[in-house]
Amino acid sequence: MTETRLTIRRPDDWHLHLRDGDMLKSVLPSTSANFGRAIIMPNLVPPVVTSQDAEGYRDRILAAMPEGHDFTPLMTLYLTETTDADDLEQAAKSGLVTAVKLYPAGATTNSQSGVRDFDKVAGVLERMAEIGLPLLVHGEVTTPDVDIFDREAVFIETVLDPIRRKFPKLKVVMEHITTEEGVNYARSGGDNLGATITTHHLIINRNDLLVGGIKPHFYCLPVAKREKHRLALRAAATSGDARFFLGTDSAPHLDQNKLCECGCAGIFSALNTMSCLAHVFEEEGALDKLEAFASLNGPAFYGMAPNTTNVDLVKTDEKVVYPPNIPTPEGPVTLFNPGFDIFWKVENEK
Ligand code: NCD
Ligand code: ZN
Repeated sequence: MTETRLTIRRPDDWHLHLRDGDMLKSVLPSTSANFGRAIIMPNLVPPVVTSQDAEGYRDRILAAMPEGHDFTPLMTLYLTETTDADDLEQAAKSGLVTAVKLYPAGATTNSQSGVRDFDKVAGVLERMAEIGLPLLVHGEVTTPDVDIFDREAVFIETVLDPIRRKFPKLKVVMEHITTEEGVNYARSGGDNLGATITTHHLIINRNDLLVGGIKPHFYCLPVAKREKHRLALRAAATSGDARFFLGTDSAPHLDQNKLCECGCAGIFSALNTMSCLAHVFEEEGALDKLEAFASLNGPAFYGMAPNTTNVDLVKTDEKVVYPPNIPTPEGPVTLFNPGFDIFWKVENEK
């Protein structure tokens, strides 16, 4: 049997939803088995707004960790119009919080408490620029007159670029970019602009979501775009360009909340992400760039060292079978199905 083995530094996930309670316990092992760190999204109900909220949430994550897993959750605060700059500064300086998340109000799952009036957060952004705390941006406008497929491009022009001009020292991550415009804008920035790319946006386009019947498990926000955008994302992710790094946006929802009249946005991909990525990078002839994307560019942007341990990605002729879903006490959560057979598996360094 032929075997290809690729050893890379242990990857990190720079955009992850772990939820809370039973769901947290059910989904955390899929990440903590293979990843060293992850940026934990704060869109709980109610959201993680204060340093006290972040501390409590971090402790619940640590308590849910399976024995033997070596994983560090990097906590974020959810930016609201009433966020207290002093609390935030203290949380950053103590190392409790790694970044702040900006959701335009109404943009996505649990974003009702997000920002409506960007002038109201100017003081907080000023402080973040001063202390070097990154702003993670869900880059979609929410105005009803903007088509859902155009929301990212319009956000870049009307919200993101003005913010970056007003606060040139602010470190910004464009989260889960889905368009050529997003790629180009990220490329145009300097050292203080980065962009995460999800695994699923490298694999599916909007036809996969909508042609031949609607596929609720491919529905996420930002929604998958047309093929030329997927190709632009693939080119960016596999380029080795340090501005682009992995943020899976693995976002578990119970099947019953996705398979209904008004299904939730979010794709659960934590469990098979590294296998899918190895497949994609191999297809692009860029296996030598996978480590940069998944393990090196992210920590460099955040000013952290890469993980000190490795994982092996191993390809053989034998199919790697992942379960179609993972169980939770309230019901199953379907795993992202990339639509191709997987031959890459992850082996942890012993
Ligand atoms: C995320 C979720 O479910 O929390 N959903 C998604 O489609 N990505 C929210 C988000 O990151 O937009
Ligand atoms: Zn997300």
